[in-house]
Formats: sequence, structure tokens, C-alpha cells
Amino acid sequence: MLATLGDWVDTALSTVSPTKEEKARVDSVARDLLQRCSYAIEKSGIRAKVELGGSYAHNTWLPGEADVDAFIILPEGTSKEEVPKIGLKIANEALSGLHVIKRFAEHPYLESYIDKVRVDVVPCIEAKKGEWKTAADRSPYHTRYMLSSLNDEKKRQIRLLKRFMKAQNLYGAEIKIKGFSGYVCEVLIAKYNTFLDLVQQAAEWKDGTIITVQKIQEGKNEGIAILDPVDERRNLARAISNQKMAEFIHLCRIVQNRKIENPFEKRLLRYAKLTKGILEHAFVLAFEHKEENEDILWGELNRTSKNIAKHLTLDGFEVLNHNAYADNQKAAIAFLIANANRSDIIARNGPPIFYSKEHKRFLSSASISWVFTDDFRTKRLERRKIISLKQILDEYMTNNRAGIAKGLFQSASSTWKLFSGNEAVKSGKELLVKALEAVAGYEPMDSY
Ligand code: UTP
Ligand code: MN
Repeated sequence: MLATLGDWVDTALSTVSPTKEEKARVDSVARDLLQRCSYAIEKSGIRAKVELGGSYAHNTWLPGEADVDAFIILPEGTSKEEVPKIGLKIANEALSGLHVIKRFAEHPYLESYIDKVRVDVVPCIEAKKGEWKTAADRSPYHTRYMLSSLNDEKKRQIRLLKRFMKAQNLYGAEIKIKGFSGYVCEVLIAKYNTFLDLVQQAAEWKDGTIITVQKIQEGKNEGIAILDPVDERRNLARAISNQKMAEFIHLCRIVQNRKIENPFEKRLLRYAKLTKGILEHAFVLAFEHKEENEDILWGELNRTSKNIAKHLTLDGFEVLNHNAYADNQKAAIAFLIANANRSDIIARNGPPIFYSKEHKRFLSSASISWVFTDDFRTKRLERRKIISLKQILDEYMTNNRAGIAKGLFQSASSTWKLFSGNEAVKSGKELLVKALEAVAGYEPMDSY
């Protein structure tokens, strides 16, 4: 069904707030978590405090997706280096008896589930305003700021914005997504008041726009800056990839100018069909990995994908796009390449004729032929042995000169397989198809 954004907002607004029952259940999880933290602090003998923060404390969480963040606030004199040792130990104790996952944002913290509700225990250090030592030290200030500046209507609008960001695959600050965090959504509504006003304004954001809750300044930064209202030296948008920022701006234009499907439930940008014309140029490098930590894995994968693409380009392949994807055991890096085979001949430039020894050495290894060039040098032509993508990957996987991340290399080099676009589709493997779709890009659309 197609409708205007205004209509979709009206229907969505009534569904973005949790029911009384759900709220009561999450409240009891929050009480349980607070108790666990207080107990763990007492047991440690350290003069720490616990405070709830994030979307639970700000009352901006979405039904079905509650997440209770508790901050273990270590005393003021604690050094940054002590946080993992002291803070994570208390966090671990607080979550004892539960299945715990260690996570990294800008700092380590622990994640678990109580009564099916996600809970995060984040250690930080008590600090005076502006004297923060770790990224999480600002959080108690964020909570104070949001509690004093958000009214019920703004909270509803934040929930709406989060729903939109989630449906459009733009939500989440984790490395896998590099999108908009819950806190960024809160700041954007603190600034623009309503989802619709934000959409209207964001559609017109210009390069160098600096968003502060007080005013918008034109600055010299590249792209968009979103300043943290409790610390204007911190640009929250640095955690957002330029692609995700651009996608958001684009979507803001799309949703205002045409009738659309429900943007709070359905992703509006659709992937291009995997036609023969695309599949001919698509390849997927698949391998197993042993990395258990998602944040580390995605950091490594993104680096690896970028490095291999760079080396392929240097080595004579025209890489049009590249993209990484992974699940718990397997990783897939997809490439869109103009020429699946590189040229079998290459010219190499030699030293100036005046360098007798170097010139002689250069000529002695000419394999096909050589010529004089008009800058007093010589150029020799060589036959290449390695022509295909498969052969060159074989080389990268042997000597790792293409910068495959250390943590992935061993497992990748012994398990890698190269699929052509067609083979990847035929395999029916979800991982390969997802990597292919993302590398192929979006389907063409009418302009707005
Ligand atoms: P969360 O990422 O858990 O966000 O950050 P959230 O607002 O609670 O959203 P959901 O509902 O769980 O998805 C919790 C706190 O961590 C700090 C903020 O203080 C935020 O309130 N934070 C998070 C940042 O300072 N910067 C970020 O990019 C993300
Ligand atoms: Mn949270």
C-alpha cells in the first residue's frame, strides 16, 4: 500500500510506545539489574555507584526491543587503564549466573539477557563536566540532559525516528552498521522537535553543516557534524559512516516527495535484481573465521575488503565495488569487477640510460621485448603468468601482501573459495547472496 509520510506517521505514532504490561516487565528487569550491580559493588569493596542510563532511563525504548543500560561509576581518581580490570570485574559479578557477552563500543562492556530483556553493564569513571576519561563517562550527563529536555511528545518522536532508522537499516552505532545510535536519535529530536521537521531539514543539510541543539552553524568540517550537547567538542556523527549519512539524507528527500510504502516497517531502497549483466562481473570470496566478537570481526572484515580491493586495483583489476558480510562462522567478501581477467602483458619502466649498471640489470630480465622511451629511459614488456582473479587471490592467500587482517588470515588462507556471481546465486547460500546484493547496489529509481 502507498500513502504519504504524514499518513504513515499518524498510524505509526500509536504503536511506538510500549504497553503497560511490557513496561512493568522491563521495570522489574531494571530493578533486578540495579540490585545485582549494587550487590557486586558492595562485594568489591570499591566506592563505586550504579546508575541506569540509555533508552530505558530516558524512556525512549521501543516495544519488543527494550534494552536496560546500567553504568558502574568508578570513583573519580580511577585511571582509564583500571576500568577494564576493576569495572569489568564488578560487571561480571553483577551478571553472574547469566550468559554474558563481552562487547566493544568505544570501550568494553558486558551484555546479557534477564527475562528476555537485553541488559548492558557499562563501567565508567565519575568525572566533572568536561573532564571525561573514557567515552562512557559522559553517559550520566546524557541522562541528566535528556531527562531535563525531553517531554513526552519528544520521547514519542524519538521512538518514531528509531523505528524509521531500524526499518531503513540505518540504526546502530556498532562497527557492523556504523549507523545512527539511539543517543544520536535523541539529540536529533532534541534539536528538531519532531520526526517530520527533522526529515524536512535533513533533506537540505549541506556539506559542512554542524548540528548543535542550540543552533546550526556553517563550519569547515567535511560532511555533517552532530555535536554532543553535553560536550560540544565531541562530534557524534564521527561514528556514522558517510554512506549511512548520505542514505539518510536521500531517504528524507524520497519520503517527502512521493507516496511510499510504510517507512517504519519496510526498507524503501531495494536492491537491484541480480541479472546476468551484474552476475558476470560479480565474485564472492568466502572463507571460515574463528572470531567470536562481532565488533572485532566486522572491523577486520571491513579492513580486509578495502585492502584486497586496493591491491586488486594496483594489480590491474578494475574494481567497481566491494563489500563484506559475515555470520557466526563464515565470511564473504563480494567484488564487482569490470574485467575478470587482467591483461596478460604489462610494461615496466626502467632507469635512465645514464645509469649503466641499473640499465644493464633492467634489460637482462626483459622477457618479450623492450624499447627506448623519449625520456632517456627504457621500457620492457613482460608476459604475466597470473591473469585471473582466482590466481591472484591464491597469491594473496599465500603471502598476504594484500593486507588481509591478521585475525582472519590463517583461517581464510586454508578455507577460502571463490564463487562467480552465478555460482554464488546457485549455491542458494544466504550469506553469499546477501554479499552479492550489497555489492550490486540498489535498483534504479525515478528521481524525486
Ligand atoms: P545505547 O547504544 O544503548 O543507546 O547507548 P540507547 O539510547 O540506549 O538506544 P537503544 O534503545 O538501547 O537502542 C546507551 C548510552 O551510551 C551512550 C549514551 O549515553 C547512551 O545514552 N552513547 C551511546 C554515546 O555516548 N554515544 C553513542 O554513540 C552511543
Ligand atoms: Mn541502550
